[in-house]
Amino acid sequence: MAKAWGGRFQQDTDPRVEAFTESISFDSRLFEVDVRGSKAHATMLAAVGLISSDERDQICHTLDEIKDEIAAGNFPFKAELEDIHMHIESALIQRVGDVGRKLHTGRSRNDQVSTDLKLYVRDAIDELDELLLNCQLAFLERCDKDAGVVLPGYTHLQRAQPVQAAHYWLAYCEKFHRDRDRLSDCRRRVNVSPLGAAALAGSSLPIDRQMTADLLGFDSVAGNSLDISSDRDYLAEFVFAMSLISAHLCTWCEEWIIWFTTEFGFIKLPDAYTTGSSIMPQKRNPDVLELIRGKSARVMASVPQLLILMKSLPMAYNRDLQEDKLAMFTAFDTVKACLELTPAIVAGAELQRDQIASRIEDGFLDATALMEYLIKKGVPMRTGHGTVGALVAKCENEKRRLKDLSLEELQAACDLISDDVYSVLGTENAMKALQSFGSGGEKPVADRVAHWKVVLAE
Ligand code: ARG
Repeated sequence: MAKAWGGRFQQDTDPRVEAFTESISFDSRLFEVDVRGSKAHATMLAAVGLISSDERDQICHTLDEIKDEIAAGNFPFKAELEDIHMHIESALIQRVGDVGRKLHTGRSRNDQVSTDLKLYVRDAIDELDELLLNCQLAFLERCDKDAGVVLPGYTHLQRAQPVQAAHYWLAYCEKFHRDRDRLSDCRRRVNVSPLGAAALAGSSLPIDRQMTADLLGFDSVAGNSLDISSDRDYLAEFVFAMSLISAHLCTWCEEWIIWFTTEFGFIKLPDAYTTGSSIMPQKRNPDVLELIRGKSARVMASVPQLLILMKSLPMAYNRDLQEDKLAMFTAFDTVKACLELTPAIVAGAELQRDQIASRIEDGFLDATALMEYLIKKGVPMRTGHGTVGALVAKCENEKRRLKDLSLEELQAACDLISDDVYSVLGTENAMKALQSFGSGGEKPVADRVAHWKVVLAE
């Protein structure tokens, strides 16, 4: 096939090379942002007198037509036109001739690709922000639904201290909030215009980069054309932010997969989000949670993928960079699909209150509360730790609980104990005793629920 912009070549491109080098199979989804960028560029070209306002209107109108055809699926893509940028430009030229041949004045595909990617990522960030908010709201709504339920808190997956169930839900609100914060921070660096850096050195033409930046809603104009053509920092940051979202989703999935086992039996997942087994009739498997966890591999792999792509590239544009989109699109599509499913699973699950309550006194969840009771009586912390440890060992031997020990038995361990000790013993009391800011007790959790209701309503 003859080369698209092949004035200086004598040989046609080997069709295998066309197939090998094309990016249209994965960058066609940039069509909308590509047209947005080109219209802003044409508007600027007219404003500085490089094209007429008639030409601008013709270009913009035809670009919209092309965009609509692509959106409607009526636009043929072919590998020899390499990428979305060349497809749109050559369709424009086909339709308006020489006028179309002026659009690429003062720019190159190198700054065009980056402009498109930044516009795409900016929209993607806004979409993820909304999806994360929905996840936060789903967890927040569970707080009222599960008010009063006490769960064991774990470290090392060993029973540790009791917390309100809502404390777990709000932990995810916090994680997703940092994710949103990280995305919005990344967005600031995304939102700097590359357009007009041209191939690598800028242009001798009187282009107005500030104007295109303003038209496209960029906050500012990037200051070094060499840097611009090679910069993919914003993609690396974006995929990292998405990887942490995935990590947070994995924590949730992992926890609920464990809670959904017969051994735990803390939670029942909605039928719509579990699957059966082809051979074992009794099975209900948490496949969706497992796949959110499993698909996180693709998201996280995008971080090293991009860094490896970027390392060892000299300035400025190198064709390697074409591969950047694959990493980012895969990560984005995956995270988006996961976040879209999450709220429904969160809302539809049921805590198995009876099952939780039947074993909530197991595991000495009140041991730390007893130690802190001793501290309040004036016992040094390490001494109290030892005293309670010995009481726990005694209970373990005798198959009893701390709250079942008599006052005499407790006083034998420490004579500062009086009968107010029973107000901290037992799981419910131990949970209620927690009162520091951010802790899992009744009052601090209620305060945080109120806090999140205000924050998420904004
Ligand atoms: N298809 C290429 C990409 O996506 C376009 C960049 C072309 N620039 C170049 N100098 N060949 O990165």
